[in-house]
Amino acid sequence: MLKVLVCVSGGGTNLQAIIDSIGNRKIKNAKIVRVISNNHNAFALKRAENAGIDAVCVSPKDYPDREAFNDALLSAINEKEPDLIVLAGFLVVLPEKIINEYKNRIINIHPSLIPSFCGKGFYGLKVHEEALKKGVKVTGATVHYVDEGTDTGKIILQKAVNVEEDDTPETLQRRVMEQAEWELLPQAINMIANK
Ligand code: GRF
Repeated sequence: MLKVLVCVSGGGTNLQAIIDSIGNRKIKNAKIVRVISNNHNAFALKRAENAGIDAVCVSPKDYPDREAFNDALLSAINEKEPDLIVLAGFLVVLPEKIINEYKNRIINIHPSLIPSFCGKGFYGLKVHEEALKKGVKVTGATVHYVDEGTDTGKIILQKAVNVEEDDTPETLQRRVMEQAEWELLPQAINMIANK
């Protein structure tokens, strides 16, 4: 049984996709052992509680400095001894010590077809604003392993999504989530849990 720990910051729709996929057995041999949010107000925490999943908030606001926060985050992760850490809309840059301790056991969902529209500052709506500004006809989402860079780890899965003429960043974000993110992340977890 793959022990999965999910890190979140916001609405938690990707977390919900994982919870639902475990429930309907699209993901086999895996269980979520903890959800960690850096944001006290993240609705993702409510989704975890509603699903009866251990949910904790480790917020930088609650620590005197970054080092203390990083140590608290690592402790909250280590307590559950996960086999896989999933960054699902997690807006915190993981410190080297966590990446090293969980080498090749951290994956992230990014809302574009890497190497397009990724790297420092490319998260949330900004990714879709840039795609629309560039005028691409196709975008999508990528699941990749996390390394010391930003969105630079080995790509696991990608899925393309059409850009519509009248798209706004919001409508495009929604389509990428519905048609790509919410499919790819559970698919990647299932692959890792059953390889
Ligand atoms: C989404 O834009 C997703 O692409 C990115 O984080 C945002 C929020 O996702 N990874 P969620 O609803 O909190 O899962």
